[in-house]
Amino acid sequence: MTNRSLSAPRCLADCYSIADLRQLARRRLPRAVFDFFDGGAEDEATLRENRSAYDRYRFAPHVLVNVAEVSPQATLLGADANLPLAIAPTGAAGFGVRGADLALAKAAAKHGIPYTLSSSATTAIETIAREAPGRLWFQAYVFRNREFFWQLVARAERAGYEALVITVDLPVGGKRERDFHNHFSVPFRFTPRNVLDFASRPRWALDMLLRGMPVMENLRDLDVGATSASAIASSVGRGYDAAFDWVRLAEVRERWPRKLIVKGVARADDAQRLAALGCDAIVVSNHGGRQLDGARATLDALPEVLRGAAGRVPVMLDGGIRRGTDIAKALALGAQGVWVGRATLFGAVAGGDAGALRALDILRDELQRTMQLCGAQNLQQLSPDLLRPAPCIN
Ligand SMILES: Cc1cc2nc3c(=O)[nH]c(=O)nc-3n(C[C@H](O)[C@H](O)[C@H](O)COP(=O)(O)O)c2cc1C
Repeated sequence: MTNRSLSAPRCLADCYSIADLRQLARRRLPRAVFDFFDGGAEDEATLRENRSAYDRYRFAPHVLVNVAEVSPQATLLGADANLPLAIAPTGAAGFGVRGADLALAKAAAKHGIPYTLSSSATTAIETIAREAPGRLWFQAYVFRNREFFWQLVARAERAGYEALVITVDLPVGGKRERDFHNHFSVPFRFTPRNVLDFASRPRWALDMLLRGMPVMENLRDLDVGATSASAIASSVGRGYDAAFDWVRLAEVRERWPRKLIVKGVARADDAQRLAALGCDAIVVSNHGGRQLDGARATLDALPEVLRGAAGRVPVMLDGGIRRGTDIAKALALGAQGVWVGRATLFGAVAGGDAGALRALDILRDELQRTMQLCGAQNLQQLSPDLLRPAPCIN
């Protein structure tokens, strides 16, 4: 990710872009934790391509349009959202900064957009519902312990979550080599390398020492061996059910009475089947490049998934969104909205509540400015006609 700032940001007020927030987050975190958030699987080809895909499109803006006021007002999952944006689930966020999940949920509520709580979050389902009562979606991994999975789902229903998100691109954990190199392992072991690393960020280290490592609050009763954030982080996939399939998803559809979102879709035939199964939205996602390395960029997969969905089910997308221009391009290509993972996570880590808000402020301002500069008064006017292929540069 490029950062063209002349000097590295030292505080939130110095952050004008998501790249700046990422830099600030990097300053504040031990390397092992930053890399856990920032990194992808294996050679990180998909991680890079999620970003570079946006660079293959250029705008052909309309001029002489009255853009004194433009509206980024959107409809997501059949309800109003102030932006065509939702916060994606990011597990172990509290490992970066205490209270990260709440900071993200509150920022989303303030901006009038949905927040998705991960089942491996460091804050309880009920706490989020009580303290950040905006539009809440709950993301559930499918655990081998089925009873536990259904208990989680029931808790989300009782707490009033609007939608259940089932993530389907993680039957097993991806191979994240940065975690191995950083000795970010399970069970968590202090090694000379990671002790030095943690000591290099005294503020972070002191907080963890004095108040303890965050816990995966919703997984306390799940016996996968450990529930500390560091343990779960690098054991992603350990308790998940690789046998989960279409029959089981149909059961989820039958038993969950509210909106059902399926996240991690990349093909037309799967999208077609999901529409037939009655799910309420599809998210084109490759888990931010953290699972199957070599998977297509989500922006490249979007047209095919839209073809499969054939207008029967709305399609959203995540992966690599760092700019308002990225949001505009994804919408112009047909996404109903986009989700952001690292963009807001970096904000929260860089500055807690204020940092999470800052990330959303930046994205909103950039999107509005892009619309104005493209002559689009509302999101419907973001159409494929606004885009051209970027010239090949050798
Ligand atoms: C640190 C981290 C933790 C994540 N945890 C989850 C999770 O618990 N559940 C899930 O469905 N996706 C998870 N994701 C994937 C995100 O929901 C999302 O698909 C991805 O971050 C989008 O890419 P972006 O970070 O480039 O925006 C995680 C991503 C990151 C970076």
